[in-house]
Amino acid sequence: MSLKKLYFGADYYPEHWKEENWEKHADLMRGANINVVRLAEFAWSKIESQEGKFDFSWLDEAIDILIRKGIKVVLGTPTAAPPKWMMDKHPDIYNVDEYGNIRGFGSRRHYCYNSEIFQQFTRKIVIEIAEHYKNNPNIVAWQIDNEFGGLCYCDNCLKAFKRWLKKRYGTVKRMNEEWGTVFWSQTYNNWDEAILPGYTVCDSGTPYAHNPGLLLDYRRFNSDSCIAYQKLQVDIIRKIAPAQPVTHNMMGMFNEIDYYKLGEDLDFVSLDNYPNNQWGKAHYDSPGLSADVMRGIKKQNFWVMEQQSGPCGWNFFGDTPKPGQLRLWTYQQIAHGADAIVYFRWRACLFGIEQYWYGILDHDGIPRRRYLEIQQTGQELQRLSECLVGLKVFSQVAIVRSYDCEWSNIIQSHNKNFQYDKIIGQYHRALTENHISTDIVNSLDDLSSYKFVILPAHILMTEEIKKHLMDYVTAGGNLLITYRSGAREWNNQMTTKVLPGLLKELAGVEVEEFDSLNHGRTVKVMMKNELIEGYASVWCDILKTDGAEILATYAQDYFSGMPAITVNNLGNGKVYYVGSDLDQKFITHMVGNFTREGGVNPLLPEPVSNVEVMKRIMGGKEYLFILNHGEEEVSIPIDGFELISNTQLKGMLILKPYDVAIVK
Ligand code: GLA
Ligand code: ZN
Repeated sequence: MSLKKLYFGADYYPEHWKEENWEKHADLMRGANINVVRLAEFAWSKIESQEGKFDFSWLDEAIDILIRKGIKVVLGTPTAAPPKWMMDKHPDIYNVDEYGNIRGFGSRRHYCYNSEIFQQFTRKIVIEIAEHYKNNPNIVAWQIDNEFGGLCYCDNCLKAFKRWLKKRYGTVKRMNEEWGTVFWSQTYNNWDEAILPGYTVCDSGTPYAHNPGLLLDYRRFNSDSCIAYQKLQVDIIRKIAPAQPVTHNMMGMFNEIDYYKLGEDLDFVSLDNYPNNQWGKAHYDSPGLSADVMRGIKKQNFWVMEQQSGPCGWNFFGDTPKPGQLRLWTYQQIAHGADAIVYFRWRACLFGIEQYWYGILDHDGIPRRRYLEIQQTGQELQRLSECLVGLKVFSQVAIVRSYDCEWSNIIQSHNKNFQYDKIIGQYHRALTENHISTDIVNSLDDLSSYKFVILPAHILMTEEIKKHLMDYVTAGGNLLITYRSGAREWNNQMTTKVLPGLLKELAGVEVEEFDSLNHGRTVKVMMKNELIEGYASVWCDILKTDGAEILATYAQDYFSGMPAITVNNLGNGKVYYVGSDLDQKFITHMVGNFTREGGVNPLLPEPVSNVEVMKRIMGGKEYLFILNHGEEEVSIPIDGFELISNTQLKGMLILKPYDVAIVK
């Protein structure tokens, strides 16, 4: 879907404010160049205060006011917050934890995807809302629910899991084989005996020490349950209001749901983006990574449905965004393919657990610094929207992120400090620091347009994926495979093949032994032809080459001198194998070298620290987005026309702290 207009907006909760404020809110929104709001995604009890009693009058009125001011609407289905009357009447809707405890009323997302009663209530409310607003041309999109997530261990899930297993395996015998239930006498005689992997005796941290095949299938099942639940809603809206596109607000690197599959049923995906909150402060690269994940889901541009607009937290605050950062973070998303930006939230709420989550306006409703910054950003974006919306991001490099591998890596993470998300983040950051933009793709996605592909910890393998990678490399592609790839079958069993299993032929190496590094141990790694060294602190694959050339060796411990990093020529391409985790500096350096050899062109000739560069193209025109995330002014040698300031550069771009340029 290509929108000509750049939607710029806020998440708005008119139900939190007396009606007398609505008109003033809308005026202030217009003043800030806002042209869209998202509404109603938690307003179930306000719309259906008792079973079957629907009241849209308040929402109609709020929408009328907004529309009169020229503001369009994204309408949320309110299913993330089932009301109390429903929960009291049908307690089996509640989500249940692995101990069998009900996750009770009082927050949100307290429902189970597999509750048939809840599905019925969902159908009813979604039909009502869709019918009520289907002819309103000012509804520009529907958002289904809100930030899907959560695992459930209730009886509805158990029943549904049994059905899911039966469909997947056909026979119990096959399921037993795939899981290896002969281990510890876990063999199942019939479907009815199947279990959810809840609380049990042995504990290896969370999850409990269940069969890894069962655990992986449970993750797949849970994700599928969510996808089916979303589809139930999407189908209704498509039928009743076919003109309006449907989206869901996702959470970047969140990993409980296979976003590739969740995205299949949507017209476009949306991201919720909070770089800096109670739970942490992101490195400047990670919102970019989240955006790349979003763009990779449907291989198309996305919306930001919630973009940070103030200091935020639930019980305490993250750092207040510094002057310029709200604007910078907005441009960062646009640089990565956002076609719309919606700020969370319009005005800080007076009550509820998000009282501390500041928006564009403070509690007192007085426009201050953040309002003015967003106003300015909106003005710039409206002026440039013609040449921003629908631009394609141009990437020569892809990182493969598979949810199945993610789950397998979560279930047994090899080392306490190993995290699949983290390794993806490290390689992404290495590319960013080399001014190379990245696409995030699934294991079997088309790779033919990439000069370089990175396959981090792709623990699960199939013959099909092997062939896919082989085809890519032999045709001239460059592939980098890391440790903990190829060790397992798709059912989560260990492979009997010499490691890295199905990837051995590609890599031209064998993993002779490995060493998991614990208790703060590190191992030095040396690049052969350079004076560069790095440190492993998680894992060392001790390699034996079988055709590959050695690029780096370990320089410590009993495997000192053994290969750590190799390269193998295969067909017209190359396969790098990186046998250990390494510090960021080393990875950045290594990735810079390898991609250069692979013919990847960095977007700036020399790395400038804290500066991020993205390229977007349209109709043969190229736009470089240059973002200074640092606290220092930077000078970048570059020519071209700078769009935001409307100036012709004369060989040099000066960027103030947190400033942005778009160079054509
Ligand atoms: C999420 C949700 C919002 C809000 C914000 C802030 O992104 O989607 O409803 O709760 O977090 O906490
Ligand atoms: Zn359940």
